[in-house]
Amino acid sequence: MRILVTGGAGYLGSHTVVALVEAGHDVVVVDDLSRGNPVAVSRAEVLTGQRIPLHAVDVADIDALERIFDTERVEAVVHLAGRRTTGSRAQGPLDFYETNLGATFTLLRCMVWYGVDRLVAASSAAVYGARARVPSREDQTVRTDSPFGRAAGMTEQVLADVAHAQRGLRVGMLRCFTTAGAHPSGTIGEPAARGEGLLTAMGQVALGLRERLDVRGGDHPTPDGTPMRDVVHVDDVAAGFVAALGALDETDGPFSVWNAGSGRPASVLDVLRTFETVTGHRVPYRTVAAPAGTAAVSYADPALAEDELGWRPVRDLVDICADHWRWQSRNPAGYPGLIGGERPWRGGVGHRLRLVSPSAPWGA
Ligand SMILES: NC(=O)c1ccc[n+]([C@@H]2O[C@H](COP(=O)([O-])OP(=O)(O)OC[C@H]3O[C@@H](n4cnc5c(N)ncnc54)[C@H](O)[C@@H]3O)[C@@H](O)[C@H]2O)c1
Repeated sequence: MRILVTGGAGYLGSHTVVALVEAGHDVVVVDDLSRGNPVAVSRAEVLTGQRIPLHAVDVADIDALERIFDTERVEAVVHLAGRRTTGSRAQGPLDFYETNLGATFTLLRCMVWYGVDRLVAASSAAVYGARARVPSREDQTVRTDSPFGRAAGMTEQVLADVAHAQRGLRVGMLRCFTTAGAHPSGTIGEPAARGEGLLTAMGQVALGLRERLDVRGGDHPTPDGTPMRDVVHVDDVAAGFVAALGALDETDGPFSVWNAGSGRPASVLDVLRTFETVTGHRVPYRTVAAPAGTAAVSYADPALAEDELGWRPVRDLVDICADHWRWQSRNPAGYPGLIGGERPWRGGVGHRLRLVSPSAPWGA
């Protein structure tokens, strides 16, 4: 199938592009490069030996998106373009909702106009909220408590409504938990210059770029007091998107949502100890106050995805840490030219490693 991957120059996107090509699909990428990097796509081309066209376009720009649907003979869409945080106070939730929901609207419009009726998209475990019952099941009431979680929940609702109303359209969504790790080649991964991700922060300590790790919260009701998350290798999540695409014809209804989790939560200190063992680097840390609304424990009930997609994560924490470290130690500043979210190829702002966040957030 010829598949349009939105956000294909980003973290999940670049790994999913590789997984889709390896599964025999043709891939076209649309990414506005607001946070993605064209080098991720060219490295995906090297890994797969296939040419992967990249359109540097905002998915919310309906005219530009229409031109792509006009020329690229798209048969299905994997939608991974979106913001992962609400950004600075100045940007705020309006900008965030506009980006994440606006892109979904234009994409759906084009799909309907061009008769493209297969869509797989990323959602987030943040829809369950900080006080969710664990392990979280897809059918439990969602009580999201952040703009990020609310936008993910609204996107799910929009896609469900449109899938039920639009004859022939079939939509599947993966609720991603904490995605980590990198491709085992060490050539694509989460760019460290963005300063996001627990493993990235640990890597920065190991590389001498940070003095120590700030662990957010040490008095949670967990065995070691630190938060526990369902940490899943990015290549497992990418395989989940491929499986979801393949399962769309067999689902009961036109809209489905699956947890992309392992069902095995790990604490921050579990991850830290594994990282130290795998890399041979000690990571000093201190605990700092957790931001209000931080979940103590978040993890998936993976049964539905196992049953309906035949998918479950196969890589463990050791794989995650080893693959992440191979990527980060070889690419300490991320991709060439990337500066924490800025775009040197669109205006030239210099090449300097900048630590964006002083502490280590947990993904969702
Ligand atoms: N990584 C995780 O752990 C995680 C967890 C839950 C949900 N998600 C969701 O999965 C999606 C992908 O996450 P990621 O980790 O790969 O983030 P990412 O920032 O690495 O990738 C997103 C990509 O989308 C692009 N993009 C953003 N807005 C766009 C627009 N309007 N038009 C075109 N391109 C646009 C960015 O340039 C970037 O390349 C996001 O929607 C995120 O909310 C990720």
